[in-house]
Amino acid sequence: MNFTTLDPSKTYLITGVAGFIGYYLSRKLLEHGCQVIGVDNVNDYYDVNLKHTRLGNLDPYEKFTFIKGDISDKDMVMQIFKEYKPNIVVNLAAQAGVRYSIENPDVYIQSNIIGFYNILEACRHNPVDHLVYASSSSVYGSNKKVPFEETDFVDNPVSLYASTKKSNELMAHTYSHLYKIPATGLRFFTVYGPMGRPDMAYFGFADKYFNGEPIKIFNNGDFENDLYRDFTYIDDIVEGIERLLSNPPKDEGQHKVYNIGNNSPVKLMVFIETLEKAISNAVGKDVQFEKIFEPIKPGDVPATYASTDQLQKAIGFKPETSIEEGLQQFADWYVEYYKLKD
Ligand SMILES: NC(=O)c1ccc[n+]([C@@H]2O[C@H](COP(=O)([O-])OP(=O)(O)OC[C@H]3O[C@@H](n4cnc5c(N)ncnc54)[C@H](O)[C@@H]3O)[C@@H](O)[C@H]2O)c1
Repeated sequence: MNFTTLDPSKTYLITGVAGFIGYYLSRKLLEHGCQVIGVDNVNDYYDVNLKHTRLGNLDPYEKFTFIKGDISDKDMVMQIFKEYKPNIVVNLAAQAGVRYSIENPDVYIQSNIIGFYNILEACRHNPVDHLVYASSSSVYGSNKKVPFEETDFVDNPVSLYASTKKSNELMAHTYSHLYKIPATGLRFFTVYGPMGRPDMAYFGFADKYFNGEPIKIFNNGDFENDLYRDFTYIDDIVEGIERLLSNPPKDEGQHKVYNIGNNSPVKLMVFIETLEKAISNAVGKDVQFEKIFEPIKPGDVPATYASTDQLQKAIGFKPETSIEEGLQQFADWYVEYYKLKD
Protein backbone atom coordinates (compact mmCIF):
# COMPACT_ATOMS: atom_id res chain seq x y z
CA MET A 1 0.00 0.00 0.00
CA ASN A 2 1.26 3.48 -0.84
CA PHE A 3 0.97 5.58 2.31
CA THR A 4 2.09 8.96 1.13
CA THR A 5 0.73 9.78 -2.29
CA LEU A 6 -0.82 13.13 -2.72
CA ASP A 7 -2.09 13.12 -6.26
CA PRO A 8 -1.49 16.43 -8.08
CA SER A 9 -4.03 15.42 -10.72
CA LYS A 10 -6.83 15.48 -8.13
CA THR A 11 -8.88 18.40 -6.87
CA TYR A 12 -9.11 18.68 -3.09
CA LEU A 13 -11.94 20.57 -1.42
CA ILE A 14 -10.97 21.70 2.07
CA THR A 15 -13.61 23.31 4.27
CA GLY A 16 -12.41 25.37 7.22
CA VAL A 17 -9.37 26.38 5.16
CA ALA A 18 -8.73 29.55 7.21
CA GLY A 19 -8.71 27.45 10.37
CA PHE A 20 -5.72 25.97 12.15
CA ILE A 21 -5.75 22.44 10.72
CA GLY A 22 -7.31 23.39 7.36
CA TYR A 23 -4.56 25.91 6.73
CA TYR A 24 -1.67 23.53 7.37
CA LEU A 25 -3.26 20.71 5.41
CA SER A 26 -3.94 22.99 2.44
CA ARG A 27 -0.40 24.33 2.50
CA LYS A 28 0.96 20.80 2.35
CA LEU A 29 -1.33 19.87 -0.55
CA LEU A 30 -0.38 23.03 -2.45
CA GLU A 31 3.33 22.37 -1.85
CA HIS A 32 2.76 19.02 -3.58
CA GLY A 33 1.20 20.77 -6.57
CA CYS A 34 -2.39 19.74 -5.84
CA GLN A 35 -5.42 21.83 -6.75
CA VAL A 36 -7.05 23.12 -3.55
CA ILE A 37 -10.48 24.69 -3.33
CA GLY A 38 -10.77 26.19 0.15
CA VAL A 39 -14.03 27.25 1.79
CA ASP A 40 -14.41 29.18 5.03
CA ASN A 41 -16.88 31.70 6.43
CA VAL A 42 -14.00 33.39 8.32
CA ASN A 43 -16.15 33.80 11.42
CA ASP A 44 -15.02 35.82 14.44
CA TYR A 45 -15.12 33.04 17.06
CA TYR A 46 -11.46 33.94 17.53
CA ASP A 47 -9.17 36.66 16.16
CA VAL A 48 -9.91 36.92 12.44
CA ASN A 49 -6.49 38.47 11.80
CA LEU A 50 -4.97 35.06 12.36
CA LYS A 51 -7.36 33.57 9.79
CA HIS A 52 -6.45 36.32 7.32
CA THR A 53 -2.75 35.69 7.93
CA ARG A 54 -3.23 32.00 7.15
CA LEU A 55 -5.23 32.79 3.99
CA GLY A 56 -2.58 35.34 2.99
CA ASN A 57 0.06 32.59 3.18
CA LEU A 58 -1.99 30.36 0.85
CA ASP A 59 -2.83 33.11 -1.59
CA PRO A 60 0.44 33.03 -3.61
CA TYR A 61 -0.12 29.40 -4.65
CA GLU A 62 -1.46 29.35 -8.19
CA LYS A 63 -3.55 26.25 -7.62
CA PHE A 64 -5.38 27.73 -4.62
CA THR A 65 -8.93 29.04 -4.91
CA PHE A 66 -10.62 30.57 -1.90
CA ILE A 67 -14.38 30.79 -1.56
CA LYS A 68 -15.78 32.74 1.35
CA GLY A 69 -18.98 31.00 2.34
CA ASP A 70 -20.89 29.06 4.94
CA ILE A 71 -21.31 25.30 4.58
CA SER A 72 -24.78 25.58 6.11
CA ASP A 73 -25.77 27.26 2.80
CA LYS A 74 -26.82 24.21 0.80
CA ASP A 75 -27.09 25.99 -2.56
CA MET A 76 -23.55 27.29 -2.20
CA VAL A 77 -22.16 23.87 -1.29
CA MET A 78 -23.95 22.25 -4.24
CA GLN A 79 -22.69 24.96 -6.58
CA ILE A 80 -19.08 24.44 -5.46
CA PHE A 81 -19.29 20.69 -6.08
CA LYS A 82 -20.89 21.27 -9.48
CA GLU A 83 -18.32 23.81 -10.56
CA TYR A 84 -15.08 22.32 -9.19
CA LYS A 85 -15.91 18.58 -9.12
CA PRO A 86 -13.64 17.77 -6.17
CA ASN A 87 -12.17 14.25 -6.07
CA ILE A 88 -11.33 14.40 -2.39
CA VAL A 89 -13.20 16.35 0.27
CA VAL A 90 -11.88 17.16 3.75
CA ASN A 91 -14.52 18.70 6.00
CA LEU A 92 -12.82 20.63 8.78
CA ALA A 93 -15.26 23.55 8.96
CA ALA A 94 -17.09 23.38 12.26
CA GLN A 95 -17.78 25.35 15.36
CA ALA A 96 -15.10 24.00 17.67
CA GLY A 97 -14.72 24.34 21.44
CA VAL A 98 -16.36 22.46 24.28
CA ARG A 99 -17.01 25.37 26.65
CA TYR A 100 -18.42 27.73 23.99
CA SER A 101 -21.06 25.12 23.12
CA ILE A 102 -22.59 25.50 26.55
CA GLU A 103 -23.37 29.21 25.94
CA ASN A 104 -23.87 29.18 22.17
CA PRO A 105 -25.59 25.97 21.07
CA ASP A 106 -27.23 27.37 17.89
CA VAL A 107 -24.04 27.77 15.90
CA TYR A 108 -23.04 24.15 16.62
CA ILE A 109 -26.26 22.84 15.11
CA GLN A 110 -25.95 25.20 12.15
CA SER A 111 -22.32 24.51 11.22
CA ASN A 112 -21.67 21.02 12.57
CA ILE A 113 -25.01 19.34 11.83
CA ILE A 114 -26.62 21.23 8.95
CA GLY A 115 -23.26 22.12 7.40
CA PHE A 116 -22.05 18.52 7.53
CA TYR A 117 -25.37 17.24 6.18
CA ASN A 118 -24.91 19.56 3.17
CA ILE A 119 -21.45 18.13 2.55
CA LEU A 120 -22.85 14.60 2.68
CA GLU A 121 -25.67 15.50 0.30
CA ALA A 122 -23.18 17.08 -2.08
CA CYS A 123 -21.02 13.93 -1.99
CA ARG A 124 -24.12 11.84 -2.63
CA HIS A 125 -24.98 13.74 -5.80
CA ASN A 126 -21.37 14.32 -6.94
CA PRO A 127 -19.43 11.12 -6.21
CA VAL A 128 -16.00 11.60 -4.65
CA ASP A 129 -13.03 9.25 -4.17
CA HIS A 130 -12.91 9.95 -0.45
CA LEU A 131 -14.63 12.11 2.15
CA VAL A 132 -12.50 12.74 5.25
CA TYR A 133 -14.08 14.69 8.09
CA ALA A 134 -13.17 15.94 11.56
CA SER A 135 -14.62 14.21 14.56
CA SER A 136 -13.13 14.69 18.02
CA SER A 137 -11.72 12.93 21.06
CA SER A 138 -14.56 14.62 22.96
CA VAL A 139 -16.89 11.82 21.78
CA TYR A 140 -15.30 9.65 24.50
CA GLY A 141 -16.88 11.89 27.16
CA SER A 142 -15.89 10.87 30.67
CA ASN A 143 -14.96 7.31 29.70
CA LYS A 144 -12.65 5.82 32.31
CA LYS A 145 -11.09 3.00 30.30
CA VAL A 146 -7.84 4.14 28.68
CA PRO A 147 -6.44 4.25 26.13
CA PHE A 148 -9.58 5.21 24.21
CA GLU A 149 -10.25 2.76 21.40
CA GLU A 150 -12.43 3.30 18.37
CA THR A 151 -14.54 0.31 19.44
CA ASP A 152 -15.35 1.84 22.86
CA PHE A 153 -18.90 2.84 23.76
CA VAL A 154 -19.28 6.56 22.99
CA ASP A 155 -22.95 7.25 23.62
CA ASN A 156 -22.47 9.53 26.63
CA PRO A 157 -21.18 12.86 25.27
CA VAL A 158 -20.88 15.53 27.98
CA SER A 159 -21.14 18.60 25.73
CA LEU A 160 -23.24 19.59 22.73
CA TYR A 161 -19.99 19.93 20.77
CA ALA A 162 -19.26 16.25 21.42
CA SER A 163 -22.85 15.33 20.47
CA THR A 164 -22.49 17.06 17.11
CA LYS A 165 -19.24 15.18 16.40
CA LYS A 166 -20.74 11.84 17.35
CA SER A 167 -23.76 12.73 15.17
CA ASN A 168 -21.38 13.40 12.27
CA GLU A 169 -19.99 9.89 12.62
CA LEU A 170 -23.50 8.41 12.55
CA MET A 171 -24.56 10.55 9.58
CA ALA A 172 -21.38 9.64 7.66
CA HIS A 173 -21.94 5.96 8.42
CA THR A 174 -25.48 6.09 7.00
CA TYR A 175 -24.52 8.05 3.87
CA SER A 176 -21.57 5.81 3.28
CA HIS A 177 -23.75 2.73 3.61
CA LEU A 178 -26.65 4.01 1.51
CA TYR A 179 -24.82 5.89 -1.23
CA LYS A 180 -21.43 4.13 -1.23
CA ILE A 181 -19.47 7.22 -0.22
CA PRO A 182 -15.96 6.18 0.92
CA ALA A 183 -15.71 8.11 4.18
CA THR A 184 -13.26 8.39 7.08
CA GLY A 185 -13.82 10.26 10.34
CA LEU A 186 -10.86 11.41 12.43
CA ARG A 187 -11.07 11.81 16.19
CA PHE A 188 -8.47 14.52 16.77
CA PHE A 189 -6.89 14.74 20.23
CA THR A 190 -6.05 18.32 21.37
CA VAL A 191 -4.09 19.68 18.43
CA TYR A 192 -1.54 22.44 19.08
CA GLY A 193 1.25 24.29 17.31
CA PRO A 194 2.35 27.56 15.72
CA MET A 195 -0.51 29.69 14.38
CA GLY A 196 -2.88 27.54 16.43
CA ARG A 197 -6.21 28.44 17.97
CA PRO A 198 -6.29 31.36 20.43
CA ASP A 199 -9.29 29.81 22.22
CA MET A 200 -7.20 26.84 23.35
CA ALA A 201 -5.54 26.76 26.77
CA TYR A 202 -1.86 26.82 25.73
CA PHE A 203 -2.43 29.86 23.50
CA GLY A 204 -4.50 31.61 26.18
CA PHE A 205 -1.75 30.99 28.77
CA ALA A 206 0.79 32.68 26.51
CA ASP A 207 -1.61 35.63 25.95
CA LYS A 208 -2.15 36.03 29.70
CA TYR A 209 1.54 35.85 30.51
CA PHE A 210 2.47 38.55 28.01
CA ASN A 211 -0.45 40.72 29.20
CA GLY A 212 0.89 40.46 32.75
CA GLU A 213 -2.18 38.52 33.95
CA PRO A 214 -2.42 35.29 35.98
CA ILE A 215 -3.50 32.09 34.20
CA LYS A 216 -6.53 30.13 35.42
CA ILE A 217 -6.12 26.37 35.62
CA PHE A 218 -9.34 24.40 35.83
CA ASN A 219 -8.08 21.29 37.59
CA ASN A 220 -9.26 21.85 41.19
CA GLY A 221 -5.59 22.51 42.11
CA ASP A 222 -5.37 18.76 42.68
CA PHE A 223 -1.98 17.72 41.26
CA GLU A 224 -2.33 14.09 42.36
CA ASN A 225 -5.49 13.74 40.29
CA ASP A 226 -4.56 16.25 37.62
CA LEU A 227 -6.23 16.29 34.21
CA TYR A 228 -4.42 14.30 31.51
CA ARG A 229 -4.43 15.33 27.89
CA ASP A 230 -3.09 13.66 24.81
CA PHE A 231 -1.59 16.71 23.05
CA THR A 232 -0.98 16.23 19.34
CA TYR A 233 1.37 18.38 17.30
CA ILE A 234 -0.05 19.90 14.11
CA ASP A 235 2.57 18.39 11.75
CA ASP A 236 1.62 14.91 12.96
CA ILE A 237 -2.06 15.63 12.31
CA VAL A 238 -1.28 16.82 8.78
CA GLU A 239 0.88 13.78 8.05
CA GLY A 240 -1.87 11.48 9.34
CA ILE A 241 -4.54 13.14 7.18
CA GLU A 242 -2.22 13.20 4.18
CA ARG A 243 -1.61 9.45 4.41
CA LEU A 244 -5.30 8.72 4.89
CA LEU A 245 -6.45 10.79 1.91
CA SER A 246 -5.18 8.29 -0.61
CA ASN A 247 -6.33 5.31 1.45
CA PRO A 248 -10.14 5.32 1.56
CA PRO A 249 -11.90 2.35 3.17
CA LYS A 250 -11.42 -0.58 0.81
CA ASP A 251 -14.88 -2.08 0.75
CA GLU A 252 -17.69 -0.28 -0.97
CA GLY A 253 -20.01 1.47 1.43
CA GLN A 254 -17.54 1.19 4.27
CA HIS A 255 -17.01 4.01 6.72
CA LYS A 256 -14.06 4.14 9.11
CA VAL A 257 -13.27 6.15 12.21
CA TYR A 258 -9.73 6.57 13.57
CA ASN A 259 -8.21 8.18 16.63
CA ILE A 260 -5.38 10.51 15.77
CA GLY A 261 -3.57 11.44 18.95
CA ASN A 262 -0.16 11.25 20.53
CA ASN A 263 -0.81 8.04 22.48
CA SER A 264 1.10 9.46 25.47
CA PRO A 265 -1.01 11.75 27.66
CA VAL A 266 0.66 14.25 29.96
CA LYS A 267 -0.54 15.93 33.14
CA LEU A 268 -1.84 19.43 32.58
CA MET A 269 0.73 20.81 35.07
CA VAL A 270 3.60 19.15 33.18
CA PHE A 271 2.30 20.66 29.97
CA ILE A 272 2.19 24.10 31.63
CA GLU A 273 5.74 23.78 33.00
CA THR A 274 6.95 22.75 29.54
CA LEU A 275 5.25 25.80 28.05
CA GLU A 276 6.95 28.04 30.65
CA LYS A 277 10.32 26.58 29.62
CA ALA A 278 9.57 26.98 25.92
CA ILE A 279 8.60 30.64 26.38
CA SER A 280 11.69 31.17 28.58
CA ASN A 281 13.86 29.86 25.72
CA ALA A 282 12.01 31.99 23.18
CA VAL A 283 12.41 35.26 25.10
CA GLY A 284 15.78 34.47 26.68
CA LYS A 285 14.73 34.93 30.31
CA ASP A 286 13.14 32.85 33.06
CA VAL A 287 9.34 32.77 32.71
CA GLN A 288 6.95 31.65 35.47
CA PHE A 289 3.19 32.02 35.09
CA GLU A 290 1.17 33.37 38.00
CA LYS A 291 -1.36 30.58 38.56
CA ILE A 292 -4.91 30.55 39.93
CA PHE A 293 -6.50 27.13 40.45
CA GLU A 294 -10.23 26.72 39.82
CA PRO A 295 -12.75 23.85 39.78
CA ILE A 296 -13.07 21.74 36.62
CA LYS A 297 -15.47 23.34 34.12
CA PRO A 298 -18.73 21.64 33.05
CA GLY A 299 -18.19 19.68 29.82
CA ASP A 300 -14.45 19.19 30.47
CA VAL A 301 -13.29 15.59 30.75
CA PRO A 302 -10.69 14.22 33.20
CA ALA A 303 -8.45 12.48 30.67
CA THR A 304 -7.92 11.94 26.97
CA TYR A 305 -5.67 9.16 25.75
CA ALA A 306 -5.70 7.83 22.20
CA SER A 307 -5.10 4.27 21.20
CA THR A 308 -3.45 4.56 17.78
CA ASP A 309 -3.28 0.85 16.89
CA GLN A 310 -5.94 1.12 14.19
CA LEU A 311 -4.39 4.23 12.69
CA GLN A 312 -0.98 2.58 12.56
CA LYS A 313 -2.43 -0.49 10.93
CA ALA A 314 -4.14 1.61 8.28
CA ILE A 315 -1.41 4.11 7.40
CA GLY A 316 1.81 2.95 9.10
CA PHE A 317 2.07 6.12 11.16
CA LYS A 318 1.34 7.51 14.61
CA PRO A 319 1.95 10.99 15.99
CA GLU A 320 5.18 11.18 17.95
CA THR A 321 6.30 14.78 18.35
CA SER A 322 7.12 15.47 22.01
CA ILE A 323 5.54 18.42 23.83
CA GLU A 324 9.05 19.83 24.41
CA GLU A 325 9.61 20.02 20.66
CA GLY A 326 6.07 21.06 19.73
CA LEU A 327 5.67 23.74 22.39
CA GLN A 328 9.07 25.21 21.50
CA GLN A 329 7.85 25.59 17.92
CA PHE A 330 4.70 27.28 19.22
CA ALA A 331 6.57 29.60 21.61
CA ASP A 332 9.11 30.64 18.96
CA TRP A 333 6.32 31.42 16.52
CA TYR A 334 4.26 33.30 19.14
CA VAL A 335 7.14 35.51 20.23
CA GLU A 336 8.04 36.35 16.66
CA TYR A 337 4.47 36.85 15.38
CA TYR A 338 3.52 39.20 18.20
CA LYS A 339 7.01 40.83 18.21
CA LEU A 340 7.64 40.15 21.91
CA LYS A 341 11.39 39.82 22.04
CA ASP A 342 13.23 42.84 23.47
N1 LIG B 1 -7.79 21.64 17.11
C1 LIG B 1 -8.20 20.63 17.87
O1 LIG B 1 -7.62 20.36 18.93
C2 LIG B 1 -9.37 19.79 17.46
C3 LIG B 1 -9.70 18.69 18.27
C4 LIG B 1 -10.79 17.89 17.90
C5 LIG B 1 -11.50 18.18 16.76
N2 LIG B 1 -11.18 19.27 16.00
C6 LIG B 1 -11.99 19.54 14.81
O2 LIG B 1 -11.13 19.74 13.70
C7 LIG B 1 -11.69 20.69 12.80
C8 LIG B 1 -10.70 21.81 12.55
O3 LIG B 1 -10.36 22.39 13.81
P1 LIG B 1 -9.41 23.64 13.97
O4 LIG B 1 -8.68 23.46 15.24
O5 LIG B 1 -8.66 23.87 12.70
O6 LIG B 1 -10.52 24.77 14.19
P2 LIG B 1 -10.60 26.25 13.60
O7 LIG B 1 -11.72 26.91 14.35
O8 LIG B 1 -9.28 26.91 13.60
O9 LIG B 1 -11.04 26.00 12.10
C9 LIG B 1 -12.37 25.84 11.67
C10 LIG B 1 -12.60 26.81 10.52
O10 LIG B 1 -13.91 26.58 10.02
C11 LIG B 1 -14.54 27.81 9.76
N3 LIG B 1 -15.98 27.59 9.87
C12 LIG B 1 -16.69 27.36 11.02
N4 LIG B 1 -17.99 27.19 10.71
C13 LIG B 1 -18.08 27.29 9.37
C14 LIG B 1 -19.16 27.21 8.46
N5 LIG B 1 -20.42 26.99 8.89
N6 LIG B 1 -18.92 27.35 7.14
C15 LIG B 1 -17.65 27.60 6.69
N7 LIG B 1 -16.60 27.71 7.50
C16 LIG B 1 -16.82 27.55 8.83
C17 LIG B 1 -13.99 28.78 10.79
O11 LIG B 1 -14.04 30.13 10.33
C18 LIG B 1 -12.56 28.28 10.97
O12 LIG B 1 -11.65 29.01 10.15
C19 LIG B 1 -13.00 21.15 13.45
O13 LIG B 1 -14.04 20.38 12.91
C20 LIG B 1 -12.81 20.81 14.90
O14 LIG B 1 -14.04 20.59 15.55
C21 LIG B 1 -10.11 20.07 16.33
